Amino acid sequence: MPQIIFLPEEIKSKIAAGEIIERPASVVKELIENALDAKATFIKIEVKGGGLKEISVYDDGEGMEAEDLRICYKPHTTSKIKKLSDLFRITTLGFRGEALSSIAQVSKLTIVSKKAEELLAYEIQVEYGKENFFKPSVLSKGTLVKVKDLFGNLPARKAFIKNPKTENLKTLEIIKGLSLTKPEIKWEVFLEDRKVLSWEGGTLKTLLTKITGIEEEPFREVYQEIPPYEIHLILTSTSKTFSHTRFLYTLVNGRLIKDERFQKMLFSIFKVFYGNLGFPAGIIKVKVPPHLIDVNVHPAKWEVRFKDEKKIYQALETSVEELFLSKKKYFYSSSVRKENLQIKEDLSLDTNFSTFRSFYREKPLESLFYSPVKTYLFKYLGQFLDTYLLVEHEKELYLIDQHALSERILFEELKEKLLKTPSQEFLIPLLLKLSERALETLEEKRSYLEEMGFEIDILDGKGAILRKAPAIFKEDIGEVLEKLLEENFFNPQDLNSEILKRYACLLARKKGDHLSEEEINFLLEKFFKLKAETCPHGRPLYFKISASEIESKLRRR
Ligand SMILES: Nc1ncnc2c1ncn2[C@@H]1O[C@H](COP(=O)(O)OP(=O)(O)OP(=O)(O)O)[C@@H](O)[C@H]1O
Ligand SMILES: [Mg+2]
Repeated sequence: MPQIIFLPEEIKSKIAAGEIIERPASVVKELIENALDAKATFIKIEVKGGGLKEISVYDDGEGMEAEDLRICYKPHTTSKIKKLSDLFRITTLGFRGEALSSIAQVSKLTIVSKKAEELLAYEIQVEYGKENFFKPSVLSKGTLVKVKDLFGNLPARKAFIKNPKTENLKTLEIIKGLSLTKPEIKWEVFLEDRKVLSWEGGTLKTLLTKITGIEEEPFREVYQEIPPYEIHLILTSTSKTFSHTRFLYTLVNGRLIKDERFQKMLFSIFKVFYGNLGFPAGIIKVKVPPHLIDVNVHPAKWEVRFKDEKKIYQALETSVEELFLSKKKYFYSSSVRKENLQIKEDLSLDTNFSTFRSFYREKPLESLFYSPVKTYLFKYLGQFLDTYLLVEHEKELYLIDQHALSERILFEELKEKLLKTPSQEFLIPLLLKLSERALETLEEKRSYLEEMGFEIDILDGKGAILRKAPAIFKEDIGEVLEKLLEENFFNPQDLNSEILKRYACLLARKKGDHLSEEEINFLLEKFFKLKAETCPHGRPLYFKISASEIESKLRRR
């Protein structure tokens, strides 16, 4: 019996509209979500040419029967909801029936699928929205989706995606986050034929340590049932905090989310415990009865809305408190006292769609929960072109380059940590792809790298294997070493600092990244404390305009 239906108009019009496929990472996200919805126990992802050339995702899940395969790439086709009321009780990751059709419109899409109980697998190929062929095929079980020549019919869009390495980093970030939603299954990931993740299945905490590269020790874990919620937290203690939130994953009902509203809640709670130390790494995992949450708010499903924000805030606060209290020595004593807690609104539990919707549109989030009142020496005014931070400080207007600032702060942090951290073996040794010349350089200069804590084996003429690195570096250090070796950069005095500079650049927030206000305030506090003038490469971090300059330009004087 076919499962997939064409959604009726009344549902179509209620689904959050907007662009789903922005870049290769969006394709990977949608395909993995489909694999997870199909109850896969093994997912294999391969990405080539930064995802523009080919993305393939195999899962050993339920598969599709021929009739379903035939229509799954058409707009508004899904097996996951049938009627309007299903939209208020979504238990699957997908529900819009839009992902495959959006992908099919902008690529050459091939899907091979086989249901366990069927004899044959079937294959369909669709090129930029048009079906090319449909035929019996071979596959032992599950579904294999291949997406080739992404944006091949949209040259302007394709040109916008310039750097395959940047795309791969974004893709890997998403894969890592999604793998945390199902640590019990097997994952394999290849980027440009390089195996970057191999996981046989295990506990959430072990997977977290593997993908963040942070050892188990600083993580604290708490699981609590606070009806109607279940909250599972694994967070680093105040002994291990970061100036960024890259290692912080939020999962709601098995869904990886990037939701500013939810983050604001969390940061407001964290502030009491972590003070000015920065952000923890880890996972905030929440389970909510599906009727108390709306997942249909963002076209790419990155956001959710809780029906009762006050209640989830309190539950999260209780759990974070528990996490800290159970290990008192890690408690960060803060001057902010909990009695300041002000919660104003009492929310109704009406499940009516329009009330549900209007509730969060109307209420500013800050009115719903307490936020520690913190005064800064500066006033953050906003972000210009998602690239420059505009800040008022002592009657001057600062224009700060967010990438340069984040890079500088990371550089200082790495420099300090490098002296204190021992070397660590990679779980999967990294293959360094090197030209013959670079291999020669490596052979000559290997001892400098070994002094720093790297352990590298040279393979006969084929490259090298990086086995160990100082623990501050994650797998992406491979890229930095490859470049250094290719460029033959080996001034022994500057080697440490050059590696740190390049690594900081790789980790830093980029031009165009939209940052949360909490992260910006954190960076700015460091900026005014550090009094640094340039990024690690020597570019200016900022320039400023005084009030008198502005006044004279506007002829106020
Ligand atoms: N890997 C897969 N295994 C089994 N069935 C799949 C797989 N991928 C897609 N399907 C089927 O194809 C349908 C359409 O997939 P598509 O991703 O376009 O929509 P969706 O998952 O229902 O909703 P959304 O657009 O929110 O992702 C799914 O509802 C599902 O029935
Ligand atoms: Mg889907």
